[in-house]
Amino acid sequence: MTVLAVGDVVGAEAAAWLAARLPRLREEHRADFVVVNAENCAVTGPLPMDGFGMTVEVVDLLLEAGVDAVTGGNHSWDGPDVDEVLARPQVVRPANLDETRGRGLLTLRDGDRVLTVLNLLSPTAALPAMKAPQPRELWPSWTGIAGEQPLPGAVLIDLHGESPWEKAAFAHALDGRISALVGTHTHDPTLRGHLLPGGTAYVTELGMTGPLGFTGGGFDPVHFAARLRGEDFTRLPAYQLATGPLALGAVVIEITAQGTASAVRRIH
Ligand SMILES: [Fe+2]
Ligand SMILES: [Fe+2]
Repeated sequence: MTVLAVGDVVGAEAAAWLAARLPRLREEHRADFVVVNAENCAVTGPLPMDGFGMTVEVVDLLLEAGVDAVTGGNHSWDGPDVDEVLARPQVVRPANLDETRGRGLLTLRDGDRVLTVLNLLSPTAALPAMKAPQPRELWPSWTGIAGEQPLPGAVLIDLHGESPWEKAAFAHALDGRISALVGTHTHDPTLRGHLLPGGTAYVTELGMTGPLGFTGGGFDPVHFAARLRGEDFTRLPAYQLATGPLALGAVVIEITAQGTASAVRRIH
């Protein structure tokens, strides 16, 4: 089985750009399943913490283009359409927090190919001001999820977190028990894909899919800089998307019928 995993889509233009290229990407890489983190696919709001979510219009654009699962993160609760977006059966929000809407994991089936997608939000990526419920610690959350029900098929986790070491530690802790762990949230892609000794594919950060200007995060970092300087960043104008060429943050993962990853490679 071949899985195409795409990192945080930033802005509606990038979503349309990805949607237009998806059929060709799918064919070129013979992808059976496409998993896209789209937590920033619609930059809507004037407030710094509310402008980075999803809208149902943009999510539907991705789904109509063939995305099989849309994952999220700390921004899954932002934007004007949270209820409707989380109600889409292909949308997965972080599982390790108290939320009754939507789902934290999703099992995709295509013939004898079965892939379960699980989204987890690290407490390191949970800002105090965010609307998302506060996430629970990763390891107890994982043991709760995997202990209650065996996860069907190959398992891919989108771990939305701030710390590379934490992502690596979690991947190693699950090595051989899941097929792949892909990191999201920090937006700047990490170079290497790893095949861990037990057969789990791991990449620290998929990287954002969106405009490359400024720091490569997809938007102007002026608010982050102001906050670091101790200034009242909420008085600044709304976040602006970066300009410049669009980048794809993505990897292709090959998984055997036994659920062991055999290859992970970055694509551009
Ligand atoms: Fe993001
Ligand atoms: Fe995030």
